Amino acid sequence: MPNKALTSSTLAIPEVGVVPSHIAIVMDGNGRWARQRLLPRVAGHRKGVEAVRRTVEACMAMGVQSLTLFAFSSENWRRPSDEVSVLMKLFLKALKTDVRKMAKEGIRLRIVGDTSAFNEELRHAIAESENLTLSNTRFNLNIAANYGGRWDILNATRLMLKANPLLANQPETIREEHLAPYLALADQPEPDLYIRTGGEQRVSNFLLWQLAYTEFYFTERFWPEFGKEMLLEAVRSYNQRERRFGRTSEQLHQASRASAS
Ligand code: IPE
Ligand code: IPE
Ligand code: MG
Repeated sequence: MPNKALTSSTLAIPEVGVVPSHIAIVMDGNGRWARQRLLPRVAGHRKGVEAVRRTVEACMAMGVQSLTLFAFSSENWRRPSDEVSVLMKLFLKALKTDVRKMAKEGIRLRIVGDTSAFNEELRHAIAESENLTLSNTRFNLNIAANYGGRWDILNATRLMLKANPLLANQPETIREEHLAPYLALADQPEPDLYIRTGGEQRVSNFLLWQLAYTEFYFTERFWPEFGKEMLLEAVRSYNQRERRFGRTSEQLHQASRASAS
């Protein structure tokens, strides 16, 4: 059996289980949740942290291996500076409050994105949290912060060329396998399921490369309301999909008949 974590959905057909191996979530709608309650937008972000805890717990209980949460995009710097600053403080606080528990529970925490843009204190807390959970293998929690799918692909290209400078002279020899190891989350399976709360049906520069064959699920509900029940609903929807990876439905039925006999 190929190493599941390294299966590329475009180079081989990944194994598909009832429980998604990897779930990626765009945690959207915090601001609108707060506004509906006549609260400042940041009250929604604060509530959103509780939804993160519920979701991590529910994913672990379900047997999911990896969860990637979009916390701050490379375009979110365009927001009012007060809101950006509260988001940074909340991120720092959540790291400090939760990391010891994560370490104990077997969670490996990784922050993916261009963390060089964060202030010294936050960068330090990120490095410390990642170190503290480094040897954990039960569950991967990836927080995408100052992350953009385009940044990820460009960053991987730069790293690939730095490691293999000769490739620049032979661009026709460059294959997916050369670039893939330098992308964020390269050691984890591609997301099986993408969830976006808040009603918008877009990607907003999340995992552009990694979502090649991911199933999408959108809900109108806002992120602060998210939890186990909504996660189960998304997984139920996921289980009704036929993941063909480019093949025909008939081919899939033939393959399942062959394996049953
Ligand atoms: C998602 O909620 C959190 C971040 C992008 C940091 P929003 O803040 O985008 O909430 P809405 O979409 O404005 O309601
Ligand atoms: C996407 O939400 C990013 C995060 C949830 C962190 P946005 O609220 O920034 O997305 P747009 O601007 O509506 O596309
Ligand atoms: Mg939003």
